[in-house]
Amino acid sequence: MCGILGIVLADQQKNVAPELFEGAMFLQHRGQDAAGIVTCGTKGRFYQCKGNGMARDVFTQQRMVNLVGNMGITHLRYPTAGSSAGSEAQPFYVNSPYGITLSHNGNLVNSIELRKYLDEVVHRHINTDSDSELLTNVFAAELDKFNKSRVNNQDLFSALTGTMEAIRGAYACVAMLAGYGIIGFRDPNGIRPLLFGERINADKSRDYMLASESVVLKAHGFHTFRDVKPGEAVIIPKDSSGVVKPEFRQVVEPKVFAPDIFEYVYFARPDSVLDGVSVYHSRLEMGIKLAAKISKVEDLDIDVVIPVPDTSRTSASQCAVSLNIPYREGFVKNRYIGRTFIMPDQQERRSSVRRKLNAMESEFKGRNVLLVDDSIVRGTTSKEIVAMAREAGAKHVYFASCAPPIRFNHIYGIDLADTKALVGFNRDEDEIAKVIGADKVIFQDLEDLISCCTSDQLKQFEVGVFTGSYVTGVEDNYLQELEKIRAQNQRLRDRRDRGFSVDACIDASDMVDVKAELDISIYNRGDY
Ligand SMILES: *[C@@H]1O[C@H](CO)[C@@H](O)[C@H](O)[C@H]1NC(C)=O
Repeated sequence: MCGILGIVLADQQKNVAPELFEGAMFLQHRGQDAAGIVTCGTKGRFYQCKGNGMARDVFTQQRMVNLVGNMGITHLRYPTAGSSAGSEAQPFYVNSPYGITLSHNGNLVNSIELRKYLDEVVHRHINTDSDSELLTNVFAAELDKFNKSRVNNQDLFSALTGTMEAIRGAYACVAMLAGYGIIGFRDPNGIRPLLFGERINADKSRDYMLASESVVLKAHGFHTFRDVKPGEAVIIPKDSSGVVKPEFRQVVEPKVFAPDIFEYVYFARPDSVLDGVSVYHSRLEMGIKLAAKISKVEDLDIDVVIPVPDTSRTSASQCAVSLNIPYREGFVKNRYIGRTFIMPDQQERRSSVRRKLNAMESEFKGRNVLLVDDSIVRGTTSKEIVAMAREAGAKHVYFASCAPPIRFNHIYGIDLADTKALVGFNRDEDEIAKVIGADKVIFQDLEDLISCCTSDQLKQFEVGVFTGSYVTGVEDNYLQELEKIRAQNQRLRDRRDRGFSVDACIDASDMVDVKAELDISIYNRGDY
């Protein structure tokens, strides 16, 4: 899961980099692992700045002055780990044909097949383990097929049709063709979000933006915006006359429209509206539905409702109102603990919860508390939080989750954990309660969660983490491959922990840069 952004300014003399940077600040909650900007100057040359870390650390003033040009794209990468993660920072670039750079949000499920195709059929070298690099190269190979020295919109749309027929999975992308313009496209199921907007300048010229969330568009004065439709693409050509006219096309048939429900549960900012549904309102609804379920549970004697900050606040406060029980902020979050403190192994992860949250005794002492969180993933964070509540003097600790138990892998860009590492894997609710040390856990029902996010246009969602059935289907060997890669990564880490140097850890078979299984429920929250 990542944040993506693309802007074309009408004014050829203006540099777009400052706006790409500011936009990145509005998307930072979507990924704090790496950040990148690529701009394109007047001679069709790309200028890039990317690296590991938060946007404000990567995009220093000194580096930014080198990013010239009136169009460009940004990428914010969701936490992954591995030794050479810097090589996976996006946007990805390929020089042939024409110079293409691409930012991808999502995950492809037929990467094994694509890797083979790129190697054996079109002979393209893939240098990382990132499926976004595969995607970029599939698109490049499709464009190459025209064997033309210059392409037009029609060729680009055809190449996108070819690309989207070849790749399977979740993707929202912004790409840039050197000297030509910016391209946006979204997978046929609309799993990952992408919006398009326009801003009218004083001289009546128009600027255009593509972004993962509506907050960025609004913040930058792009008042007319809409969601890119599933299977749709848009090309915003940069025209030397200054007249930029975006062209939309349905490049492949849309399939079942099923955005990832996780955007609403915790990923997106509450002030975003995605596919016509307000994230904030969906979270209020989650609180109402959760309260209805809690009130039916027998033998619960709740004195106070306490959120696990930050995402669940909206739901928790509404839940308290619906239950007519006082709401208290029992945990205070330290906003200044950065990603630097996140260590890959379990032991340190546990204590970092305590570095990030502090329990106020006055709110817990002698009370029966209902803790509300957006979801429970591995259970390590929840367990720590329950323990903190007890240490602060709580009598009974009940734990409610706005989402149902997560029992399966997330395969569309949130690398939750191996299925077996999920606390919901093969456990019923009582067993989950036992593992996290709560007196009782209450999970939202899936039908209720879905009903919180629906609108007239939007009825279905990607909910594979709860059901194990994924909207795009999944190749048998894909999940095994994921597990293999994670295991390899773990071996690498173990060896490193035992004092081997990083280089010594990488033998021929270990030459993979792998995504890590971070407990997302605490680290990737936005600090709104
Ligand atoms: C590609 O175009 C060039 C120049 O027009 C031509 O010489 C070449 O044969 C073409 N290649 C293919 C594979 O069609």
